[in-house]
Amino acid sequence: MVSRRFFILSLIASILASLTLGPLMLLRARRGVDGLGVGVGYSVADGRVELPLPSLDGVVSVERALANRRSVREYTGDPLGLSELSQVLWAAYGVSEVNYGFKTTPSAGATYPLEVYAVVYPRGVMLPDGSYMEPGSYKYDPHTHTLTMVKRGDLSRELYEAGLRQDWILSARACIVITAVYTRTTRRYGERGVRYVHIEVGHAAQNIYLQATALGLATVAIGAFHDERVREIIGAPPEEHVLYMMPLAKPRKPYSLKLEDLARYIGERRRTGRA
Ligand SMILES: Cc1cc2nc3c(=O)[nH]c(=O)nc-3n(C[C@H](O)[C@H](O)[C@H](O)COP(=O)(O)O)c2cc1C
Repeated sequence: MVSRRFFILSLIASILASLTLGPLMLLRARRGVDGLGVGVGYSVADGRVELPLPSLDGVVSVERALANRRSVREYTGDPLGLSELSQVLWAAYGVSEVNYGFKTTPSAGATYPLEVYAVVYPRGVMLPDGSYMEPGSYKYDPHTHTLTMVKRGDLSRELYEAGLRQDWILSARACIVITAVYTRTTRRYGERGVRYVHIEVGHAAQNIYLQATALGLATVAIGAFHDERVREIIGAPPEEHVLYMMPLAKPRKPYSLKLEDLARYIGERRRTGRA
């Protein structure tokens, strides 16, 4: 009885943590960077957005993020916050080492073949002053932690059409698109470099999944779309090949794994020998 009550309380605590502490963590741990020339806020000018610094101290454990990660396809219409977008982009491919500019995602020979775009939908991303980020396609620069607008306007319907009309592309508030310049890696590794690029995009996508989960956001990795069409829509150059789309939004129903359910599942499989 006691353990059941404890279990229910810890479940509620973990759901609350992923729902409310995610955004809160973005406000924490920005101390100690004043006067370093980057500021802790944001700035928007001429299609360039200097993103707020990411937080390096979240409150959701990596185990809980792994347990709660799901491909989520039903969203509320609530906008994302700029800090949330900033955090997800940093997790995807941001700088995490300042001598060489190495990134959150491992990369074969540190060749870093990937490029990351954020397609922002109308009223999709709210700025701290309560206004909305201008809709359009933006390219992420990990080294300056900025977004630069590539194409202006509402691209959500075109992306949805190019993505085989998967509803969650349209109902999201933004969509992360990851492209690759294969030659950066194949120049060094030949044909094997193609495999390395595909492995790397999986690392970046998992980073996005886990960071989104830790922030109480929803995403889903999308591999089914018309490559060239998506490339044109986001305004990427021909040498970039689109590999993944990941819509981003607030989940209609957050997912949370219960340890009790996992124990029951494993116990039953052990008893029955069922795979
Ligand atoms: C390479 C790849 C391509 C995928 N493409 C799509 C897709 O086009 N549309 C979609 O809704 N989900 C897509 N998914 C998500 C899978 O359907 C999902 O991961 C799977 O059903 C397991 O669910 P989970 O992610 O919640 O564990 C893709 C996943 C991967 C790894």
